[in-house]
Amino acid sequence: MAILVFGGAGYIGSHTVYELVDAGRDVVIADNLETGHIEAVHPKAKFYQGDIRSREFVDSVFEAEKIDGVIHFAANSLVGESMTNPLKYYDNNLCGTKVLLESMVAHGIDKIVFSSTAATYGEPERVPILETDRTDPTNCYGETKLSMEKMFKWIGLAHGLRFVSLRYFNACGAHVSGQIGEAHSPETHLIPLILQVPNGQREAISIFGDDYDTKDGTCIRDYIHVTDLAQAHILAMDYLLAGKESNIFNLGNGVGFTVKEVIDTARKVTGHPIPAKITPRRAGDPAQLIASSEKAKSVLGWNPQHADLEEIIASAWNWHKNHPHGFAK
Ligand code: UFG
Repeated sequence: MAILVFGGAGYIGSHTVYELVDAGRDVVIADNLETGHIEAVHPKAKFYQGDIRSREFVDSVFEAEKIDGVIHFAANSLVGESMTNPLKYYDNNLCGTKVLLESMVAHGIDKIVFSSTAATYGEPERVPILETDRTDPTNCYGETKLSMEKMFKWIGLAHGLRFVSLRYFNACGAHVSGQIGEAHSPETHLIPLILQVPNGQREAISIFGDDYDTKDGTCIRDYIHVTDLAQAHILAMDYLLAGKESNIFNLGNGVGFTVKEVIDTARKVTGHPIPAKITPRRAGDPAQLIASSEKAKSVLGWNPQHADLEEIIASAWNWHKNHPHGFAK
């Protein structure tokens, strides 16, 4: 029996596949390679190229393989794009998940682990954020992820499917092997953008606002290493395989760093001065997002191994300096 990783050629998906293979699991990957990379597909995983919105494609994978459970990463995830093109997010994220669930129900596959996000909370009521806190997304990306969580709940009640939703905070870093890492196009995330400066691809990093109500005026985020996220997916699948009930977990380190602190740490790691300039705020950025991950620790036994920001940035730098154009040659 195998685990199907939908979106297993993307950033967090590929790192999860590497951890699953290392743990001795049989892995099947499905990915349309729209934002994923064939080079990120683990050589020991079986790969099917196709789109989650195609019922024919999804059915064909479930018919060809014996699947125990699904880990679902196949979605669009750019906050800015979700605001200018919300229908793309409803189509791929919600309609895609609908097709996947229809096919799972038809094939009697009843376990799914799902990528959710801190963006489901919107502007938080308090930090650290608990899973029971108010969810009120400030962007369409977060709205579609919250709707997907609700779909799982109702389909679960009707058809006996169980799910674990993992609400990631700021995913970053790269695999210790240096084989895979973050490669988005366009890139919008802070750490890879900072590292474009020492890589000679950008003059300076922009700091989006220094007038927030935080210790140095810049936004605070909870940065979590992608390999620690990957481990949580294995624990979540094992939790479902053990027959446990549907659940939702935050995944973060519970420690917040300001944008300026992240830039300073990158200066230390790279030995480059990394010039920074203050620019206006980016619309929709909450001042502070910090997770409480106590639930994932106590219920799943999750224990992040790479919480140190310097180690996280060093792993990202190891990837970006050797792959300045991502997976492109
Ligand atoms: N930032 C800058 N300059 C940049 C890029 C980012 O100052 O050039 C700042 C942002 O304003 C933010 C912080 O750096 O304060 C982190 O920004 P990212 O774009 O790296 O990450 P976000 O916190 O915006 O987004 C992440 C995930 C999303 C998810 C969101 C949840 O990437 O998928 O967390 O809030 F929706």
